[in-house]
Amino acid sequence: MKEMKEIIAHLKEKGFVYSGSSIYGGLANSWDFGPLGTMLKNNIKDLWKKFFIDEEENIYHLDSSIILNSKVWESSGHVGKFNDPMVDCKKCKERFRADHLIESIKKIKNANNLSFEEQTKFVKDIVCPSCGKQDWTDVRAFELMFKTSSSKTGGEETLYLRPETAQGVFINFKNVVDTLNVKIPFGIGQVGKAFRNEVTPGNFIFRTKEFEQLELEFFTREKESTIWFDYYIKKINDFLLSLGLTLDNFRKYEVPNDSLAHYSSRTIDFEYKFPFGWGEILGLANRGNFDLTNHTNSSNDSMEYNDQSAKEKYMPHVIETSMGVERLLFAISSEMLITETINDGEREVFKLPFNLSPYKVSVMPLTNKLEKEANSLYKELLKKDIGPINLSIGGSIGKRYRKQDSVGTMFSITFDFDSIKDNMVTIRNRDTTKQERVFIPDIKKYILKNAR
Ligand code: GAP
Repeated sequence: MKEMKEIIAHLKEKGFVYSGSSIYGGLANSWDFGPLGTMLKNNIKDLWKKFFIDEEENIYHLDSSIILNSKVWESSGHVGKFNDPMVDCKKCKERFRADHLIESIKKIKNANNLSFEEQTKFVKDIVCPSCGKQDWTDVRAFELMFKTSSSKTGGEETLYLRPETAQGVFINFKNVVDTLNVKIPFGIGQVGKAFRNEVTPGNFIFRTKEFEQLELEFFTREKESTIWFDYYIKKINDFLLSLGLTLDNFRKYEVPNDSLAHYSSRTIDFEYKFPFGWGEILGLANRGNFDLTNHTNSSNDSMEYNDQSAKEKYMPHVIETSMGVERLLFAISSEMLITETINDGEREVFKLPFNLSPYKVSVMPLTNKLEKEANSLYKELLKKDIGPINLSIGGSIGKRYRKQDSVGTMFSITFDFDSIKDNMVTIRNRDTTKQERVFIPDIKKYILKNAR
């Protein structure tokens, strides 16, 4: 695995990720995704939707608003409870997550279970990692939800940017049941932006204030919730494998009861061995009927499910899988960006599976003299539904191969002087570097057969 700085440099240089707001001097810990990063992210999201929604029975899509009525966040327990312990060094003004500081320096596990007073005592003994002084504020709560406001008659109303997409699903539970007449068990999946005013964002795109979540809320009877929890452990493993990730780089962390989120009765975090160390990539949680019950109690609507066949009404329980697109992209890059030696020297290769590669194919004229012919082949292939294709011109063919290797393009198609006569092209495979002569009309068939 490469070091952090090598991965970041590669992703920046090749148009996957850019520093946010860079022309204005940047904005700390904010990242924009360039053309290739956007394509990679879209492929991750598409694969998730296919895997967790479209190929499953009884799972439905949703696209709820980012800004919801603030009563949603009061009922869900986020207002007041969704905060992190924060402490500032009075000398250098650096801000820290107090629990993380205590865990890393004092080697105390689950320091977030300690009261703020206890955390304050521990922090007093710690030397500031940033300036070496020992002069701390008390530990206090740091509200993680971003506030915004909206004008309404008679003043301003405080609103929040959603810190999870899940609540949009819970408040639409009844709408989906009533409009689609769905039967329990069923699930609702949603992909979308979430926002958290993190105390200490960092580690590249691992912890940011704005990110995308892939969340599935699966509604079941209470007595079947354990079966579905186990079902989703397997489903998650299969998904990670389908992304081409190695399970050896993961570990499962059973969150202890006293550290569970306020809504969960059981959570397993799937942690990945990032170049900076272990970090959570996704969580599987049993949210019980916490959210639906709270929304029932606080709104004018009952979220109870009316099971007509069993002639009973009950509050469904929820099994949730929640993962971050950026963390998946980071793990994929950590594992699949490789430097290797092949016949003609060293190369950087992004060994993405075909379904994740931003470009599936690159079309190249052997020399500039063949640009016109290569261009018309490129245009023809764009309409063949193979996936995104680029045209690579200028520079030696070897250099163009290397460039495509470094961004994960699986096949390079070279149009040469013989192609005019025999209607054939040379197709080079990114991973094996093997080259084969293929009839132009057979290109799609060849690609689909050899794609991995
Ligand atoms: N609805 C449950 C929920 O939001 P979470 O563990 O707080 O649970 C789920 O978040 C996932 O969202 C995490 O596993 C991670 O992949 C992603 N995530 C959370 N905070 C993030 C942040 N600040 N930056 C990037 N990704 C984040």
